[in-house]
Amino acid sequence: MKREYPSLCKPLQVGGVTLRNRMCSAPLGATDILADGTPGPRTLGFYEMRAKGGAASVTVSELVVHPDTDGSQMLKLSLATPGQLGAFAYVADAIKRHGAVASIELSHSGQYAGTYMVDKKKKGALCQYGPSDGVRPDGLPVKALTQEQIADIVAAYANAAGLAKRAGFQMVMVHAGHGWLINQFLSPYFNKRDDEYGGPLENRVRFAREVLTAVREEVGPKFPIELRMSGSELFDGGYDLEEGCRIAEALQDLVDIIHVSAGSYQFGFSVTHPSMFRDHGCNVYLAAEIKKHVNVPVATVGGLSDPAQMEEIVASGQADIIVMGRALLADPEIPAKVMANRGDEIVKCLRCFTCMAERPVTQTRRCSVNPRIGREFEGMSITPAPEAKKVLVVGGGIAGMVSAWVAAKRGHQVTLCEAGSELGGILRTEKALPFKIDMYNLGCSYAVLCERAGVDIRLNTPVDAAFADEFAADAVIVAVGSESMTLLMPVDEAARVLSVDDMYLDGAEPGDEVVVIGGGLTGCECALLWARRGKTVHLVEMRDALAIDANIRNRPILLAELEDAGVDEHVNAIALRVEPDGVLVKTPEGEQKLSGDTTVCAIGQRSRRAEADALLDTAPFVRVVGDAVRPANITTAVYEAWHAAMDI
Ligand SMILES: Cc1cc2nc3c(=O)[nH]c(=O)nc-3n(C[C@H](O)[C@H](O)[C@H](O)COP(=O)(O)O)c2cc1C
Repeated sequence: MKREYPSLCKPLQVGGVTLRNRMCSAPLGATDILADGTPGPRTLGFYEMRAKGGAASVTVSELVVHPDTDGSQMLKLSLATPGQLGAFAYVADAIKRHGAVASIELSHSGQYAGTYMVDKKKKGALCQYGPSDGVRPDGLPVKALTQEQIADIVAAYANAAGLAKRAGFQMVMVHAGHGWLINQFLSPYFNKRDDEYGGPLENRVRFAREVLTAVREEVGPKFPIELRMSGSELFDGGYDLEEGCRIAEALQDLVDIIHVSAGSYQFGFSVTHPSMFRDHGCNVYLAAEIKKHVNVPVATVGGLSDPAQMEEIVASGQADIIVMGRALLADPEIPAKVMANRGDEIVKCLRCFTCMAERPVTQTRRCSVNPRIGREFEGMSITPAPEAKKVLVVGGGIAGMVSAWVAAKRGHQVTLCEAGSELGGILRTEKALPFKIDMYNLGCSYAVLCERAGVDIRLNTPVDAAFADEFAADAVIVAVGSESMTLLMPVDEAARVLSVDDMYLDGAEPGDEVVVIGGGLTGCECALLWARRGKTVHLVEMRDALAIDANIRNRPILLAELEDAGVDEHVNAIALRVEPDGVLVKTPEGEQKLSGDTTVCAIGQRSRRAEADALLDTAPFVRVVGDAVRPANITTAVYEAWHAAMDI
């Protein structure tokens, strides 16, 4: 068979193990962690899914090596609790039985211990240790580690590696990036020590060398060690790429893979986890440069999901291995699809940060496009239906397409009717926003998936009760979506008012000065779009904050982008009247006129409830899903749609 992506599909020998291809699963913390620090059953399912999807290696993360000085809520492996080792052995097994290499990340958060604690109150009670005394950005004091503590932590890394090997892991990843403890020692910003662990680079790498040497002694020569580092810290005062190369040179003799990430959590979350506002593969240049300086295989990570781009990175020698995090949550089968030349069936990550934002709220994981994430054992695996039925799906937006695809995969005979001339529903609007193009593409991917699964797609086919009755389906899924709400305040006849959705779909462009009414996520993104294109943008929100419907990870990044783009923001501001030359608003300071030649209305969506209600009695099984129930987000639409199809 001729592989479409030959470089990605090529195996690679590292130490005593073979990676079956060049696509590895990044360390992604699970959330089902039991009180004794062992992985719970959903954690096992979480990692197994990506092994089954064809990843070359799956890294379990993060194993806290020294709980006495690192109180993070992560996995802890010791022999202290009966069965503790066993719980890890089951996870390693679950990865290996699908042909992937089981790896585990050895970690110490150092002065950022407890950063991701769900119970923030407990964080203050922890003692945070780092290379040097100081104060964290959140005001918590940091204590410098003593040399005795350093020796103890070094020994703890080795001990954890030994136990991981005994549990059946075939590789370890030592986390020395993203601002965690080893990175703190490497960094001139964090490390102010005046002993042999601080000062010149040869001293700053000492801790890393001691850790890697101790781990190597424990695991033996053939057992691969992967070093995860930031190629550059990418903030003022941190080390730069040139020093990153020197660090890699100084450590390469002790490791089998150098895995080059970027940045530091505390000073650039959208760098360590490239946000939708950054280019796909924006960190590859760091790996490419480091690769010129070392003789071991180099891995790259960050915003990668497109097989053609990943193939090019490996083929051109910028990196030897591609590591994917969020992309493999969105579609754990990327490697299998690449191997099978089915790259166009990949469901790509939206970089919306639902995966990271869910944990602090519900203590679980979710992915907006993969409803099985964090719910691996909730009966959502697509299994054949006991009896093939005739299914009518009404609406070709994301909810309709997901339902249609899942139902068809289960063996039902599915017809999908869309009133418009194109599939995609509201996702079609995202094509106008360069930073949301992945959302538009999600609709395109599902259109391909539906077609391949044999869904009978009928465009320009509105469905009313008479049509549905006549169709006589066993099951009807109603996914008719939502529509934009219109302004209620007085609008002068001569004023130019555009609805945000229509504007995107029609390609209409505002004039030089725009007033956007509605500062939710949609309004903020619209303001950002036009401000980036050089227009003067005033953003008006009646509540006291912008983008309150954005998730807690995406929101600060979006707000920073708005500020950078120079959007003129008005919260607690009520639009009173839209006039031809601007909008009259009432703010706590009084009334004022925001000038503008165009007003964009982004005040929200309304369910097409009446259309949905009209179909409720058209089949024995009827389910309304997605925005037609209540305007929400892709996560909810996909989740409901998937389940509806599983219930038929
Ligand atoms: C949900 C989630 C959990 C993560 N957990 C870890 C972790 O435990 N350890 C770690 O080193 N990196 C962790 N990361 C960072 C990823 O390994 C990866 O570096 C980052 O997501 C960028 O890659 P991507 O753009 O392919 O997602 C996590 C990322 C996500 C999205």
